[in-house]
Amino acid sequence: MEYKKINIDDLSFFRSFLEDDCVLTSKESLFTYSHDETEDLSCLPDVVLRPNKTEDIAKILHYCNSQYIPVTASGGRTGLSGGSIPVHAGVALSMERFNKIIDIDTKNLQATVEPGVINQVFRDAVEEKSLFYPPDPASKGSCHLGGNLAENAGGPKALKYGVTKDYVLNLEVVLATGEVMWTGANVLKNSTGYNLTQLMIGSEGTLGIITKIVFKLIPKPSKDITMLVPFYSIGKACESVSEVFRMGITPSALEFIDRDAIDWTLKYSDVEMNISDNVKAHLLIEVDGNNMDLLFKDCEAISEVMERYECGEILIADSERQKEQLWKLRRSIGEAVKSNSIYKEEDTVVPRAELPNLLKGVKKIGAKFGFQSVCYGHAGDGNLHINIIKGDMSDDKWNNQLTIAIKDIFKLTKKLGGTISGEHGIGLVQKDYMDIVLSSKNIEIQKGIKALFDPNKILNPSKIF
Ligand code: LAC
Ligand code: ZN
Repeated sequence: MEYKKINIDDLSFFRSFLEDDCVLTSKESLFTYSHDETEDLSCLPDVVLRPNKTEDIAKILHYCNSQYIPVTASGGRTGLSGGSIPVHAGVALSMERFNKIIDIDTKNLQATVEPGVINQVFRDAVEEKSLFYPPDPASKGSCHLGGNLAENAGGPKALKYGVTKDYVLNLEVVLATGEVMWTGANVLKNSTGYNLTQLMIGSEGTLGIITKIVFKLIPKPSKDITMLVPFYSIGKACESVSEVFRMGITPSALEFIDRDAIDWTLKYSDVEMNISDNVKAHLLIEVDGNNMDLLFKDCEAISEVMERYECGEILIADSERQKEQLWKLRRSIGEAVKSNSIYKEEDTVVPRAELPNLLKGVKKIGAKFGFQSVCYGHAGDGNLHINIIKGDMSDDKWNNQLTIAIKDIFKLTKKLGGTISGEHGIGLVQKDYMDIVLSSKNIEIQKGIKALFDPNKILNPSKIF
């Protein structure tokens, strides 16, 4: 089926209910909404629409569905799997004007928000009421909550508190036909039929457009301690990770950063730090709670584990500024890697204790195919971001060998009991690898769900499958 290219009549229809500055067709606007943070990929939409009412989204979808015009939702465009790239042109549906925090219900510890609210804006707003919204992707300063739902985003705090899906109670969704539906109820328990709320999360804008989100919140822990632990061997750093949990401690974050990742980020950011030559990796660890004595005890126990794995001198951040600097450094790694070389990022995840085997295997695959890999990520969750660096690899090798190398990495991930994306989604760039980890029956069922929600395939087409 051919999608329709948007023409002057379609634009007149959109302009009949949207203001002029909400129907964008300039070259610059089309370019802005043509890409996210995924490599250097870009596809121009025919038009960018910026509605701010559910009923306007309903009109847009009803119309596009009848005309076979593709609609790709767009949030903060910080995604890393190409989820918001409008590969078949059509409408880029920007949710940026859906930016209201409708209600923070301190009686029930819930909040109702629109999807275009920036993650950090929301966390600040609930924190003012001593509440906590844990999911904290590295892009939290600019990513939208709607995008976080679309990809089921995680971040460092997912380790103790869970990912986006663990905080969503109910959703208002506009379906491809333009019909509006609530998926669940604003309750903490719900066993009323299939869980359509959870189905929408991680569906990358392929099943419907989310227009309201009801979140669960938790009380904000009042205290935390951050420690940076250097290691002389990446293997030992990874091995120590699962041991911490076996000791009965659940840190609020436990991140792995290999040496290149930290060196590149120090060059890229204004954070200053001296690291001796023989340090090969760091673990950045945070514990949180409400009792400082207990937190110090956890830190002591963690330090003992780390020492058993031959760590160097542990740095305990002694001021809020130092903590913030360490976390800023961690959050900047992705951008630093991007600014350094052409690269491909994989978002592998394995059962925690398999992390050392994953890292060892990845380095071995790199040696076989002749690429450098810069690895970092949420080690406590077994979630490793593997950045394959082009460096001075020839274009020919990069274009022809890389897919085989990535398949090898994903086959290894599967062998270790893991999967190909922990928190970045499948989007455009990982869809060819789905059959490595999912059976054909599984994929067939997923495609059946897509067909039920969106028979005309107008919602973010050519993503996931
Ligand atoms: C991070 C992003 C890339 O962890 O997921 O920095
Ligand atoms: Zn991450």
